[in-house]
Amino acid sequence: MAGSPVMASWRVTTLTGRHAASVVSGGSITGSGAMAGALCDALEAKDGRILGVMDGDAAGPSPELAGYLWLARLPFDAEIQALGVHPERRGQGVGDALMRAALETACDWQCEHLLLEVREGNAAAIALYRRHGLDVDGRRRGYYPPATPDSVREDALLMSRCL
Ligand SMILES: CC(C)(COP(=O)(O)OP(=O)(O)OC[C@H]1O[C@@H](n2cnc3c(N)ncnc32)[C@H](O)[C@@H]1OP(=O)(O)O)[C@@H](O)C(=O)NCCC(=O)NCCS
Repeated sequence: MAGSPVMASWRVTTLTGRHAASVVSGGSITGSGAMAGALCDALEAKDGRILGVMDGDAAGPSPELAGYLWLARLPFDAEIQALGVHPERRGQGVGDALMRAALETACDWQCEHLLLEVREGNAAAIALYRRHGLDVDGRRRGYYPPATPDSVREDALLMSRCL
């Protein structure tokens, strides 16, 4: 998926190896669900795609990552492995644009379903996923480690939608 217009100055693009430096810094987006190393490996993988919104000159040496979505291609389905928007860029439609691009990509791949898992307490992400037609269809009890030192393990909600 390349070139979904979002605003005049930024768009969703497919990230490649030349975006590695940006992805390393973007991998630290809190709560996005991926480590920088895994994201860099995914940039080169054939069974998935990392969609990104870059700030600044996307062709420059190290444009900043406003947000990214890592989509894995499974035999019949597509699964969101990670999604994160830079804290200063939240609430501006970046997550929305990435979800639209992910759905378009999964349809291009002729996948049957879009799947993901999310912390039960992540209201922002759950609202975003519901807005894009995903519903909860399962739960993994105590799947996530505590989000803070004084909290407890958290359930994962499994969400999906047909494509
Ligand atoms: C979840 C996240 C990706 C949303 O990205 P975003 O760019 O801020 O979202 P958008 O501005 O595109 O908002 C789109 C929709 O998402 C939902 N949403 C986004 N932020 C929300 C919030 N704080 N509270 C409730 N709903 C929210 C709303 O439905 C919103 O539509 P609306 O503005 O018309 O109400 C972002 O908050 C983030 O990176 N969080 C930390 C990482 C994370 O939780 N990743 C998901 C792991 S499963």
